[in-house]
Amino acid sequence: MANTVQGAVAVVTGGAGGIGSVICAKLAEAGMQVVVGYGRSGEAARKLADSLPGTGHSARPAPVTDSAAMKALAEGVARDYGRCDVLVNCAGTTRFVPHSDLDGLDDELINTILATNVRGAFASVRAFRPLLDKSPLHGGGVIVNLSSAAGNIGVGSNVIYCASKAALDNMTKSLARALAPRIRVVSVSPALVDTEFVKSLDKEWHDQQGARTPLGRLATPEEVGAAVTAVVTTLTFSTGTILQVDGGRTLTP
Ligand SMILES: NC(=O)c1ccc[n+]([C@@H]2O[C@H](COP(=O)([O-])OP(=O)(O)OC[C@H]3O[C@@H](n4cnc5c(N)ncnc54)[C@H](OP(=O)(O)O)[C@@H]3O)[C@@H](O)[C@H]2O)c1
Repeated sequence: MANTVQGAVAVVTGGAGGIGSVICAKLAEAGMQVVVGYGRSGEAARKLADSLPGTGHSARPAPVTDSAAMKALAEGVARDYGRCDVLVNCAGTTRFVPHSDLDGLDDELINTILATNVRGAFASVRAFRPLLDKSPLHGGGVIVNLSSAAGNIGVGSNVIYCASKAALDNMTKSLARALAPRIRVVSVSPALVDTEFVKSLDKEWHDQQGARTPLGRLATPEEVGAAVTAVVTTLTFSTGTILQVDGGRTLTP
């Protein structure tokens, strides 16, 4: 049985980013009211919320490294919407550091990556659990963690980024067990996604990444957004799953 999500509420952290903005658009197209969570990109988040199809969208601060602020966000959503059915943990950060350059990956960068990609996702779940618990959706409330093939194959922007996504996938499994049967938890795990930022990188490197992918190209943000929407609307008996949206990238060295 597919979910009827008309009027349901989805909170997307990192909602104004390259992938997050497309996830917001897909969830709005499916009939959901979308809360576009932002860190620094308030202006872009507000513009996006105003442009989404349907009604009831808003842009709100969602600084995932500040647990008290995430709790305040959940309280605001409870007050203004009375519900939250879907939480998409899309906020994430990284920087390119060659894997052999151990000194280039300093403690400050390590702390920022882990505080955002791991602790931030957990803090968001902790804040929204009371609302997600009460979701009337078939299969319960839904948490989607934006993971990465980097967490599976250890190939990515730096060693700790890869480790952070492995931790996120592991958390998906623990939380799926801990929060059942009221809340489902799924990782959506792309390899490189062809956002505007990724398109702006060195063309030769970019093309090599596509060539290393069995399906011969990178994922589009739309394909990632469609996967997130499918988790909510269609895959209602999936929890603790790592849904790869990587064109087979994890099958090749
Ligand atoms: N692009 C890829 O190839 C790719 C592949 C696999 C997985 N992913 C994952 O997909 C997600 C989105 O990536 P993207 O490519 O769309 O990157 P992006 O455009 O840089 O978006 C990242 C988002 O994370 C938010 N963010 C970062 N630190 C934050 C903080 N402390 N508090 C709140 N928000 C914070 C940013 O929000 P503000 O701008 O508002 O601060 C931004 O919207 C990330 O989790 C990333 O690891 C990306």
